[in-house]
Amino acid sequence: MKLTRSGKIALIFLVVIIVAAVIGVIVYFVVYGKTPFYYHISFKLTNVDYDSKFHKPYSQEYIDLNERIVSLMNKTFQASKLRRQYVISHVAKVRQANSKVIVDVVLKFKSCYNNNAARFRDRTRNILLQKLMGDTGSLCIDSSSFKFSDIDMDAAENLLNICCGRRTKVSPGNKIVGGLDSVEGEWPWQASLQQNNIHRCGATLINNNWLLTAAHCFVNAKDPREWSVTFGFLLSDPKLKRSVKNIIVHEKYKYPSHDHDIAIVNLSKPVLYTTNIRKVCLPEANYNFPANSDVVVTGWGSRKTDGTSPDVLQKGIMKIIDTVTCNNKEVYDSHIKNGMLCAGFLQGRVDACQGDSGGPLVSSDSRGIWFLVGVVSWGEECALPNKPGVYTRVTYYRNWITSKTGL
Ligand code: ARG
Repeated sequence: MKLTRSGKIALIFLVVIIVAAVIGVIVYFVVYGKTPFYYHISFKLTNVDYDSKFHKPYSQEYIDLNERIVSLMNKTFQASKLRRQYVISHVAKVRQANSKVIVDVVLKFKSCYNNNAARFRDRTRNILLQKLMGDTGSLCIDSSSFKFSDIDMDAAENLLNICCGRRTKVSPGNKIVGGLDSVEGEWPWQASLQQNNIHRCGATLINNNWLLTAAHCFVNAKDPREWSVTFGFLLSDPKLKRSVKNIIVHEKYKYPSHDHDIAIVNLSKPVLYTTNIRKVCLPEANYNFPANSDVVVTGWGSRKTDGTSPDVLQKGIMKIIDTVTCNNKEVYDSHIKNGMLCAGFLQGRVDACQGDSGGPLVSSDSRGIWFLVGVVSWGEECALPNKPGVYTRVTYYRNWITSKTGL
């Protein structure tokens, strides 16, 4: 067969259109074709004694129990027809049931069964029920207590991310002064505290409803209606915004003294946790972060004294400086009180600066769980030799935090 020139062009055109359409359909299915399904299940464990430590998401007791349950769920679904649809599970809560426990677990699946959610749900439920009535390894499960229900995506993601002090992403090495760019999800508890939509201070998420920050952020600006809070590592592209319901400044804070530079912000509406918005862990009052420990300060403060603010959240990697050294005559000459701590380097170089105030100074434990050590408070200029940053010592105010928030 012989084609005319315009016939050839038409044929090529047709082929290109068909190829594009096929690619389009494939991309559509890869990207959008799988819908997430979330379920909330609970059951009683008859051989695990209740322990109040189960309420602390960073306790080894909770972490170990979570791991045992998650491993049971992984085994259950990996040996089932849903092995390719099963994504993750997580223990959201451990409740007391007499002297034993009931666990609440969130399960996530991805499937193309968009239009047959009921069938997918039944299959999941049956697989679980069969497993729980059979061999559950070292966990004794009361299968009559088994409950299974749907849960919507935001509520499920909130429970999957309820852990404290865990981040999703890490970027290498060490602008704070002498700092480096962070990546999304690296410091998920960092918030920007804004007055009339202008960044003023940093703040740290300690729970769905509460943030910790510095008292001096609110000098002459105590009206919560002026304030809002944003989340996300780019100031220009916040992932979530909340108005402020209430500001609790430490009763003994009195400007211009730096003592008791701590405040709590109550959000107008709780935030739901996501992979990039999570809370930090609060240390116990008696916890001691030793001098010389590695700590990280984060914020959108200026990168030099009187400089401008960056858009990308900055991190500064530094060390805790012991209070005796920090109170030396050539350093801060006895101005460091029990409720404060110093961090940085006596040589200067890395430091928080204007606009970082209220933000977190954090430290990770041997398991990689991050705890809030301090709140950016004051310093003489920024990154000068012998003038490290001074932070409000969180352990010192731990009971005050409990008295205001119940946390
Ligand atoms: N007070 C400053 C602020 O309001 C931050 C102080 C931190 N300074 C320092 N050199 N570490 O943002």
